[in-house]
Amino acid sequence: MGAFRKLLSAAFRPRPAGGPYVKDSMTILVTGGLGFIGTNFVLGHLASGGDRVVDLDLATYAGNPANLAHLPPESHLLVRGDVCDRELVEGILREHRPRAIVHLAAESHVDRSISGPAAFVQTNVVGTFTLLEAARAHWETLTGAGRDGFRLIYVSTDEVYGSLEPDDPPFTELSTCAPNSPYSASKAAGDHLARAYFRTYGFPAVTTHCSNNYGPYQFPEKLIPLMTINALAGKPLPVYGDGRQIRDWIHVEDHARALSLVLDKGVPGETYNIGGRSERANIEVLTSICGILDAEAPREGGAGHLELAVHVADRPGHDRRYAIDSTKIESELGFMPEYSFPDGLEATVCWYRANARWVESVTSGEYREWMKRHYGMDGWDSPPEGLPGGTLAARRGPGLRRTAGLAPRRWRSDMRIPWRRPWYGVPDRWPRIMKRPEERRIGALAAVGQTRAGSRPDTDRKSARHGPEVGQPRARKAASHGPEGG
Ligand SMILES: NC(=O)c1ccc[n+]([C@@H]2O[C@H](COP(=O)([O-])OP(=O)(O)OC[C@H]3O[C@@H](n4cnc5c(N)ncnc54)[C@H](O)[C@@H]3O)[C@@H](O)[C@H]2O)c1
Repeated sequence: MGAFRKLLSAAFRPRPAGGPYVKDSMTILVTGGLGFIGTNFVLGHLASGGDRVVDLDLATYAGNPANLAHLPPESHLLVRGDVCDRELVEGILREHRPRAIVHLAAESHVDRSISGPAAFVQTNVVGTFTLLEAARAHWETLTGAGRDGFRLIYVSTDEVYGSLEPDDPPFTELSTCAPNSPYSASKAAGDHLARAYFRTYGFPAVTTHCSNNYGPYQFPEKLIPLMTINALAGKPLPVYGDGRQIRDWIHVEDHARALSLVLDKGVPGETYNIGGRSERANIEVLTSICGILDAEAPREGGAGHLELAVHVADRPGHDRRYAIDSTKIESELGFMPEYSFPDGLEATVCWYRANARWVESVTSGEYREWMKRHYGMDGWDSPPEGLPGGTLAARRGPGLRRTAGLAPRRWRSDMRIPWRRPWYGVPDRWPRIMKRPEERRIGALAAVGQTRAGSRPDTDRKSARHGPEVGQPRARKAASHGPEGG
């Protein structure tokens, strides 16, 4: 490379916002750092001045190396490999001597666990066991402050608690473990192992149970990105059963902040529930997404995006309701989610709209095959017979063209995300196209009825930080359509 190009590339190489890498700083090992939560956690950790990250990730369909490719190796070192590979894990621990481990690597999608549970048992159970064993051996070599301060954070899920009835109180850390899907059962196995390693060996494992995350970089098989992307492309929006399954939603950056708190202040052997205090029925979430898109990217011909909704047979053993009581982490570690759901959702929908190339890069090949097998549609090109939605032409049609038009022009062939500066804790950096989320939400709720159960009113902590709105909101159409309207 010529000197001038070298200079240019050094000048434009994005740096973590936490400042330049200090050579002697400490290291943490993150597993699954290329996934949805992992990416947001690593960006947030580095942005807040956190220590160097060694990232062990197999880069499965859900792990995208491009997410963190802009980080210099002194801040983020990717080791592509399997958490079940004991030799590899031991080698990493020996070489990098991390002060802590954040274990996120997992197979994470319930639907996939139903059609192929073996991979879930392998990664989530055998992988967690392998990591615990190697980490215990490493920890036993430590002395003094290094040993006392060592932590392994096992990132589990609220799904291990099973399903709630509408009037049940939210899950606490003392709720019974009652997983209903192969996914949640495999995560629960990890919970038990982490607990047993603390009780038996005194190994400093800490477990977290978080509710449903949403935000940027989520693989579009999960509800919010799937619906956003399909709606933008004019494709069917598959809704399980009556769509009234209730989830407690938390913005992924809030989850990442909670994990940092647990890393710093969590007590070994303890478990912490992490929730967003935002219970919503799936159909409400879909209605809100469609409302946002109706205002920001209206469909040609004036039809509402919610008209694309199609009901599909419910998932076997589908849990009806999850709700998390996060009093413990709030009172003991000082955690409080910063995002209100309306703001966070709008920002998220805008992110997927603005990052169409990222979406395309992760939704090729295997994903389309899987969508076809599982839902009878691939989510992009061809809806099943008789369903509304378009063909390849429609996919490249107005919805996506508009999206592409909005995408920043700095796209490079290596697929770096344009907003390189992580917006961790910096909500004011969200694009100014977000307007009046609370109004939109009211419209959406009016359409589906008030199905929230037991959640606190949104205090819109974040929206208070946004400046005055500019311009008039466009007409919204979703509010006039119920889920049956599709
Ligand atoms: N997404 C949520 O709403 C949510 C909520 C609570 C808890 N969790 C938990 O958080 C963790 C991360 O979830 P996510 O949504 O980011 O998942 P994800 O599927 O987006 O990412 C998982 C990551 O793990 C990697 N991985 C998979 N198998 C591996 C293996 N054998 N070895 C090494 N790496 C491997 C993948 O490549 C990917 O980068 C999971 O443990 C999940 O159970 C997720």
